[in-house]
Amino acid sequence: MAIDAAPTRTLPFLRKLTRHARIPVNAFEEAGTQANGDLVRLHMGPFRPYLVTHPDHVQHVLARNQPNYVREGMFWDPLAPLLGEGILSDGDSWAESRRILQPLFTAKYVNSLAERMAEIITELIDETVVPGRPFDVAKGVSAIVHPTIVRLFFGAKISVADINRLVPAYDVAVTAKAIRLVMPFVPDQFPMPGDQPFKKAIKAIDEVVYPRIRQARMTDGEGDDVVSRLVKAREDIAGAEGERRIRDDLVAMHGASTETSATALTWAWPVLQAYPQVAAKLYEEVERVVGDDPVTTSHLPDLVYLRMFVQELLRLYPPGWILPRKALQKDVVGGVTVEAGSTVMLSPYLTHRLPRFWDRPLEFDPERFAPGEERSHRYAYWPFGAGPHVCLGQHLFMMEAPLLIAGILRKYRPVVHHDGPVTPRLASSLRPVAGLSMTLVPVERR
Ligand code: HEM
Repeated sequence: MAIDAAPTRTLPFLRKLTRHARIPVNAFEEAGTQANGDLVRLHMGPFRPYLVTHPDHVQHVLARNQPNYVREGMFWDPLAPLLGEGILSDGDSWAESRRILQPLFTAKYVNSLAERMAEIITELIDETVVPGRPFDVAKGVSAIVHPTIVRLFFGAKISVADINRLVPAYDVAVTAKAIRLVMPFVPDQFPMPGDQPFKKAIKAIDEVVYPRIRQARMTDGEGDDVVSRLVKAREDIAGAEGERRIRDDLVAMHGASTETSATALTWAWPVLQAYPQVAAKLYEEVERVVGDDPVTTSHLPDLVYLRMFVQELLRLYPPGWILPRKALQKDVVGGVTVEAGSTVMLSPYLTHRLPRFWDRPLEFDPERFAPGEERSHRYAYWPFGAGPHVCLGQHLFMMEAPLLIAGILRKYRPVVHHDGPVTPRLASSLRPVAGLSMTLVPVERR
């Protein structure tokens, strides 16, 4: 069949990147504004990825013609030693992992994890927050989110020493390759800063994860943590091969859940400071629904505004801000030919800011997500991805986020020490500027 395609518009991108060297997200934002939903190519020297932002095109790449767009290529390959051949790979090994993992994430299991999560988060807030003393926002959030996920995934048996090894190792592993994300044209063989720390981090992760898997296998996956569930689900594959598959899925899931959750929750505080009316509504709701009590999953259905707040947070600051794919075959998207073998970059960050689909796109307004509000397009909002690869942890996160935010707000008010707007910085996920600090001030109750 002859395919009619319009000539592709190419935007000079290297110059933008140089101009926005400190905040590369801004280079993408500028390109997104210029593209205004059209499918364009970004000129990055020899490397010219396609930029996909229009919801119709997102739907095409992630859902309708998904098998043609695989997680391979310059972005994914450097991460392969961390993620292995499981749920964050593609093709047959991904399909096999998805078949095993999806049934684990039933509503019943996710609810039971959330109940446990509520207890852990309450404990960790009590342990880590020092009222009135300034702290680094990203580190403070991470000190709650990372151990929470580790304890949920590995169960009560994981030692404090192992938690203390895993948490920083993951932090390094998921961020060390960030530089390659904005410089994907640098071949993998060419050493870049971050390569050595990345290797060391994987070694540290494996030294904790493998023994825990073996231990769970010896007790036939008894227990309700994620490792035990995985061990049970993979009973059919014995020996080292089975261990490796469990490791790949576990490590990939862990990586997918900690960095994303911690990043999203780091944005909550500068946003509350920048939008006092939103903050006032949220404080009122938490006070009314939770009051003095520890937050539990039973509060969640009544924390309606908090849920809207989290959805809006993920609209403006989706942690997985860029999703790269490789096109296996030539295709036509939005009238533009996509060459076989080329890289396609999708970005919820840019789709979520398209004026064609969002009124006042740069304004933080949770009311967009008020119950009954209609979405302009099903694929105009996709912080958790879409299609067959859609996030397996979205429901867990939509419980984790209110538990943590309400857990803090029931006792404290945040004061962020920063003048002017808080901007994103270079990382594989959309983190706020480094060194952002805040103080939590105890709520005065009459
Ligand atoms: C704010 C929190 C989160 C965000 C924004 C997020 C975002 C995403 C996105 C965009 C994808 C699609 C990746 C792609 O298409 O290449 C994805 C996939 C995935 N997420 Fe999440 N995620 C979050 C939390 C979690 C949590 C808590 C878990 C824990 C279980 C998790 C597990 C996964 C897994 C396993 C996949 C791969 C699914 C597949 O390819 O079949 N995520 N996530």
